[in-house]
Amino acid sequence: MNPFQFNNPTKILFGRGQVEEIKNEIPTYGRRVLLLYGGGSIKKNGLYDQVIKALSEITDVYVEELSGVEPNPRLTTVNKGINLIKENNLNFILAVGGGSVIDCAKAISAGVYYDGDVWDIVTNKVTAKKAVPIGTVLTISATGSEANSGSVITNWEEKDKRFFVSDHTFPKFSVLDPENTFSVPKNQTVYGMVDIMSHVFEQYFHASSNAPLQERVGESILQTTMEVAPNLINDLHNYDYREVIMLNGTFALNGILSMGVHTDWATHTIEHAVSAVHDIPHGGGLAILFPVWMEFVASKNPEKVAQLGVRVFGIEAENKKNSDVAVETIRKLREFWSSLGAPEKLSDYGIDGTEIDLMVERTMITETIGSYVPLNKKDVETILRKSL
Ligand code: NZQ
Ligand code: ZN
Repeated sequence: MNPFQFNNPTKILFGRGQVEEIKNEIPTYGRRVLLLYGGGSIKKNGLYDQVIKALSEITDVYVEELSGVEPNPRLTTVNKGINLIKENNLNFILAVGGGSVIDCAKAISAGVYYDGDVWDIVTNKVTAKKAVPIGTVLTISATGSEANSGSVITNWEEKDKRFFVSDHTFPKFSVLDPENTFSVPKNQTVYGMVDIMSHVFEQYFHASSNAPLQERVGESILQTTMEVAPNLINDLHNYDYREVIMLNGTFALNGILSMGVHTDWATHTIEHAVSAVHDIPHGGGLAILFPVWMEFVASKNPEKVAQLGVRVFGIEAENKKNSDVAVETIRKLREFWSSLGAPEKLSDYGIDGTEIDLMVERTMITETIGSYVPLNKKDVETILRKSL
């Protein structure tokens, strides 16, 4: 293992009815609240009313709302939020939604204290020094953003999507009530589970040695997700299935899997470039790209792919070469995601090769990406072409 520090300060409020607790949590940080949410799912499923009721029970509370945060949240919306906070002297952000709303809240919170363009923070040109405290009520299990400090923002005008982390942008608390995910439609539920599994892969395929616990925990998250996923997609209102997936999502990206290891993240970097240019759902993009990435790296270093196959996909490896086990593993992964109804090719989203050069350019934010097998520009182009 590499030397590491670990600090995850987010308080998790898990289970039925926990949304009421926001009235006790928020006043610790402020009473002038920016309530941030997405395109209206929380109004349809009744969560908005519950949040408003809990907020109204805070003495001297003042609430401004900003709705319409886009899936793949945009810089323009982040700027709207920053302005609202400055104009109204707000001192707390409550993000009610999925990764997009939470990520938008994090960028707003860091941008308020920076006089320049918040895009400088998102692109890591400038480090956030301070941030407005945020709390979240999670409505879809996927990104893990509820319990990490990461934020992914799209600059649609520049066709760019970038990622930053900051010690200041961990949510102070996150409400995880599985019932709030009952209304997530089947396709988004599947994208979420693909994202959760992909987060494990990004950290499982690390470039460090001697991390058996981290790998075994990752394998458990994969196995648990794979056990529940086929049942959940046929029973979207099942509390037991939803709660297992919800906790898996948080475990997959709250920092425990990356303790002491040099993680990969090449596939996410490529996916962010694809959605920067084509605005597709994050989990959908990963379902297409991950098996192709795995094929590419297995051709150079099949060992870890074979380990995954044996331990998670139950492949019998005796007397077989690692490269053959790896091929079987990737076939099984594809079959599993396809059985859930995940997309298989970029063409499923109407994406052809016309913008490949731009996607490659947007991917190559550093000379090479990834660490299990570092990828250069040509490798990324190969992966994208094979994904069409
Ligand atoms: O906007 P509303 O109306 O709420 O609808 C959303 C949206 O259309 C809907 N939805 C969410 N909860 C719902 C619901 N519909 C019905 N009932 C509910 N309870 O689902 C759609 C997708 O929501 P979104 O927040 O975009 O999904 P997700 O959580 O997958 O977030 C994706 C974003 O997070 C970034 C992605 O790149 C993408 O921009 N990521 C953030 C990460 C992080 N901060 O750690 C890591 C990830 O790898 C990822 O990159
Ligand atoms: Zn992801």
